[in-house]
Amino acid sequence: MENLYHEFERILVTEEQIQSRVRELAAEISEDYRGKGSIVLIGILKGSFMFTADLARHLTIPHYIDFMALSSYGNSAVSGAVRILLDLRADIYQKHVLIIEDIVDSGHTIDYLYTVLKTRKPASIKTCVLTRKVDKAINTPIDYLGFDIPDVWVVGYGLDFAERHRTWPFIAELKKDAYQD
Ligand code: IMP
Ligand code: MG
Repeated sequence: MENLYHEFERILVTEEQIQSRVRELAAEISEDYRGKGSIVLIGILKGSFMFTADLARHLTIPHYIDFMALSSYGNSAVSGAVRILLDLRADIYQKHVLIIEDIVDSGHTIDYLYTVLKTRKPASIKTCVLTRKVDKAINTPIDYLGFDIPDVWVVGYGLDFAERHRTWPFIAELKKDAYQD
């Protein structure tokens, strides 16, 4: 593979750290939902595809997988400027729903998603977020959190920069000159 490491400032979360935290989260989730029937995991594309797959593999409770794709209109700093590119296949009415997100930055995406899914009247709705940039005020409760990370641009394990670097097994901080003028 082409050597792209020179584009990274540093590795923020190693593959081992991710895999160990994913197993812990899966154990916690399995414990919390045990005896409640099947849950619906909603992976948010594209960024959560790896996290959703790894997490699901370690769950010991019955579950279904569904996906949604969302996009911010241009400037994602504008509140509410989120739209649905791909919606769920199945109805979530009276189902236990767990949103799986790769990253929470401003929180606009997850706030929007949470509000929209609530109107469909699921039995319950919780959120599982792999990474959260610290010190951001968001409305939506994060029920399961992988890692707090600094406010820098990160890539890998599903996360991209202009569609690049998504498939690394670790999370790296991109060098600032790669994304800032
Ligand atoms: P929000 O600002 O919390 O709405 O985050 C919007 C979306 O921006 C996230 O779902 C990610 O797709 C993307 N995003 C935010 N920060 C990063 C990052 O550091 N790396 C890659 N994607 C990010
Ligand atoms: Mg995302």
